[in-house]
Amino acid sequence: MQEVSFIPGNKALAEKLINCDGNIFVLMDEHTHRFCYPRISEILPHKHHQIIIGAGEEHKNLKTCEYIWKQLRESGADRKSVVLNLGGGMVTDIGGFTAATYMRGISFINLPTSLLGMVDASIGGKNGIDVDSFKNMVGTFKLPDQIIIWPDFLDTLPDKEWNNGMAEVIKHALLAGNELWEKIQNVIAVHEINSKPFKFAISTLLPEIIKVKSQIVKADPEEKGDRIYLNFGHTIGHGLESYSLAHDSHPISHGEAVLMGMISEGYLSNKLCDLSKDELQSLIQTIRKIHVIHSVKGKAIPEIMKFVKSDKKRASGTLSIPLLKHIGTPIVISGISENDLIESVHFYNSLVG
Ligand SMILES: NC(=O)c1ccc[n+]([C@@H]2O[C@H](COP(=O)([O-])OP(=O)(O)OC[C@H]3O[C@@H](n4cnc5c(N)ncnc54)[C@H](O)[C@@H]3O)[C@@H](O)[C@H]2O)c1
Repeated sequence: MQEVSFIPGNKALAEKLINCDGNIFVLMDEHTHRFCYPRISEILPHKHHQIIIGAGEEHKNLKTCEYIWKQLRESGADRKSVVLNLGGGMVTDIGGFTAATYMRGISFINLPTSLLGMVDASIGGKNGIDVDSFKNMVGTFKLPDQIIIWPDFLDTLPDKEWNNGMAEVIKHALLAGNELWEKIQNVIAVHEINSKPFKFAISTLLPEIIKVKSQIVKADPEEKGDRIYLNFGHTIGHGLESYSLAHDSHPISHGEAVLMGMISEGYLSNKLCDLSKDELQSLIQTIRKIHVIHSVKGKAIPEIMKFVKSDKKRASGTLSIPLLKHIGTPIVISGISENDLIESVHFYNSLVG
């Protein structure tokens, strides 16, 4: 069973890390090496090795895996060694994959440093790499030995990356409903986005936010059932992101795409399920505080639909999309027509201005 430890202070983090058995290999990207490693280097076991890779999604590939495997071998990693993934989702994804496959699998610990890493990517045992433009095409399900959440790392996270993480925070709160949704709505309504008090308020809610994904993946570790709920906003989001990556000189970020996708899929939830107009309005209002609506060009929509239909969560030719019956009650709907999908993008466009 996977353990998620929420560590509020430096001393407790030291105790956690010092207790790691085996030869430790700290995997980080160039940014987390610069900003995060110095904060823990003193409290790591004396003899540890560093493996530094390039930052960014373009490095989440086989070439980087080969580099990591080679570094592990040349530094004498054996089956008792432990990889400590110090970074955002890119590092925990590729670090988990290389550890899961090195010598048929060695232990690894996730120490996420980005908001998205803390609330999403480090949890649930999915790891992997991209092949050409196909995201996460190759990977395994393997749980880390531990997930250690130390919110202080967020101090150096750029605002743009905060926004990416906030898309998943909002999604988790929509799936959980009730108290958590109210708290997140409140933090977003009361504080200036990305101000210090805003970031502090989100940090204090991390244990509750993380629990949403932990509980879903515990019940469905291999994505055969309810884990698909975590895909809310990601089907249309995936279409928008893929289109933008293919055509725009400054593509929209994954977080932007998910926020846009949640508005469109919120619309579908109102049209095809029982999500009330008031619930839809509260979803839109909250997202608008951190996302500026911009129009999706009409001529882009056919290609966006092609990407939507190629979503890898499609099974046996049918696209199943998690929608919201109510905030806090997700439901999977199959066989949604292309007209409805297109209408949902037009709905997003109707909010411009
Ligand atoms: N396995 C899963 O279940 C899962 C779920 C969601 C996303 N993902 C994957 O996660 C990745 C995205 O994760 P991400 O948004 O964390 O991206 P990322 O790991 O690329 O990090 C974004 C940027 O922030 C920098 N950074 C991270 N922490 C920092 C810190 N504390 N201070 C300063 N800079 C810091 C990184 O170096 C990088 O430049 C994607 O590859 C996605 O496919 C995986």
